[in-house]
Amino acid sequence: MESMGALRRTHTCNDLGLDFLDQEIILMGWVLRRRDHGGVIFIDLRDRWGITQIVFNPEINGEIHAKAHQLRSEWVVAIRGRVTKRPASMENIKLKTGAIEILVDELRILNISETPPFPLDEEIEISDNLRLQYRYLDLRRPEIAKNLILRHQALQNVRAYLNEHNFLEIETPMLTRSTPEGARDYLVPSRVNAGKFFALPQSPQLFKQILMVAGMDRYYQIVKCFRDEDLRADRQPEFTQIDMELSFITEAEIITIVEGMIKSLFKAVKNIELQPPFQQITYAEAMRRFGTDRPDSRFGLELVDLTEPLRSCGFKVFNTVIEKGGVIKAINAKGCGGFSRKDLDDLTEFASRFGARGMAWIKIKEDEWQSPITKFFSEEEIKAMAVALDAQPGDLILFGADKAKTVHQVLAELRLELARRLGLAQEGSFNFLWVTDFPLLEYDEEQKRYTAVHHPFTAPNEDQLELLETNPGAVNSRAYDLVLNGNEIGGGSIRIHSPAMQKTVFQALGIEAEEAQEKFGFLLRALELGAPPHGGIAFGVDRLMMLLTGSSSIRDVIAFPKTQKATCPLTEAPSSVARKQLTELHLRPDWKEKE
Ligand code: AMO
Ligand code: AMP
Repeated sequence: MESMGALRRTHTCNDLGLDFLDQEIILMGWVLRRRDHGGVIFIDLRDRWGITQIVFNPEINGEIHAKAHQLRSEWVVAIRGRVTKRPASMENIKLKTGAIEILVDELRILNISETPPFPLDEEIEISDNLRLQYRYLDLRRPEIAKNLILRHQALQNVRAYLNEHNFLEIETPMLTRSTPEGARDYLVPSRVNAGKFFALPQSPQLFKQILMVAGMDRYYQIVKCFRDEDLRADRQPEFTQIDMELSFITEAEIITIVEGMIKSLFKAVKNIELQPPFQQITYAEAMRRFGTDRPDSRFGLELVDLTEPLRSCGFKVFNTVIEKGGVIKAINAKGCGGFSRKDLDDLTEFASRFGARGMAWIKIKEDEWQSPITKFFSEEEIKAMAVALDAQPGDLILFGADKAKTVHQVLAELRLELARRLGLAQEGSFNFLWVTDFPLLEYDEEQKRYTAVHHPFTAPNEDQLELLETNPGAVNSRAYDLVLNGNEIGGGSIRIHSPAMQKTVFQALGIEAEEAQEKFGFLLRALELGAPPHGGIAFGVDRLMMLLTGSSSIRDVIAFPKTQKATCPLTEAPSSVARKQLTELHLRPDWKEKE
């Protein structure tokens, strides 16, 4: 191995072109591949910026050529040489440096590499575990590296925008008390305080509110949050938020400011001109039309309520559901009348995964409604359905009949599945949608009490305050979510700033005064000492980046993500610790230590 010595890099592997002909340059990087062409050796030299072709010609310099023979994939080299034009037949228009190559005068091998566990220059399927175990190799691949570069640019842009809008970037503690964001906490035992635990923050929610009480007026932070929940493609145990809070502010003003932020971000990293204001829809309307509070608004396939027209129909399954207070809803899958028996069986199986007990269907033909259940409907009922669904020959109607919650769940997923099959969601299109007027509380059947739909610090709608005690489930909140192509990318609210109101909401949540004092006493106290009206929002950076880069998982936009089982194959975290460490932390494990 050799040292860099006096060699200093003059350019990156993406800099050079015909403007540089005959110049002497020095490049450093990794050998992506080496090709031997009848004596002449070519290597593709790669760094973060790109690839440059290097040529070793035995007729020009036999010694260096012999040395180049040793080079293998992922060796680290420095090259001093001269820029020359490639022969016309060898130009590569796909590369920015594709018109030139470097004739080498000096080659230094700065480091060698064992054969990598997977090739870096081919599009092959590599197991996620292997990729994460060797994440440093994975990240050398331009398709992953470009995600980190885009993420950097996006966050730089966000910082610049928020700085310009008078926000202060303020850090909040990572070792803190648990805040009730709804997930399980990651706990950290305290050595100094026996039997006590910190929680890693699920979000900086309470601190940012307290910063408003502290007069900071506008706060932001690009911050890690920790939630011990079941993981999915869009969920990680630690993830990043763009977290914001503002004083003396309304929903409309917050929405305008963050729309400006998103617009600026999309312009900077995708050169896309978004046109705010984004569309808004109430929670109730979203549920009614799409069955979900995060509708993908890139396509139609809306849910149609048929409960009333079918109230007294002859189909037993539907009758029973309606009698029990359930609903009948349907989707008109336009133009899908030709679906085969197998397609319908597949869709029924798909629906059952989300709780459907069946999936009645009707194919609309020129002269008949083809289905095993048509016979149960009167002419009037058929007419009413045809109008409500805008049913035309060639269409396919899919039904959900159950409690509203189940029907919404099933049809919302069925709607997405149909859109996938039909290719309805246009790649590269970005549809933003605000969802507003969420319910403040929802009844949890298991716990037999109300829980907060967002979090317990969200302000109720001011016109409905008297309902808080009589019919808490009917009260709406001043919360809003931003949805992008069916993904919840951000959520926030106007907060409660009066201690009396905060206590009332705790009461509605069944949190006793004593418990409230013990858990949130510090917040209640702060509210008693001059809290300004305030509100805020937090964006899921990883989700936003996943959508911006067209990745299928948030893991692809995080440098060192965790697996589905919340482990890190690179460091093998979480790991066992010595019994001594546990005793110091006043923990007494009851599992057997490995020998
Ligand atoms: P919320 O819990 O809605 O709000 O979180 C805000 C946004 O963070 C993202 N997100 C996640 N991303 C990846 N993995 C996860 N496990 C995960 N959980 C959430 C989502 C979500 O929209 N304190 C409030 C915000 C506020 O009221 O200001 C909060 O944390 O994109
Ligand atoms: P059955 O009378 O059980 O043979 O059902 C007739 C049709 O109704 C079948 O296509 C079932 O899939 C469908 N079906 C049964 N239960 C439901 C339900 N809860 N929602 C929608 N369709 C259903």
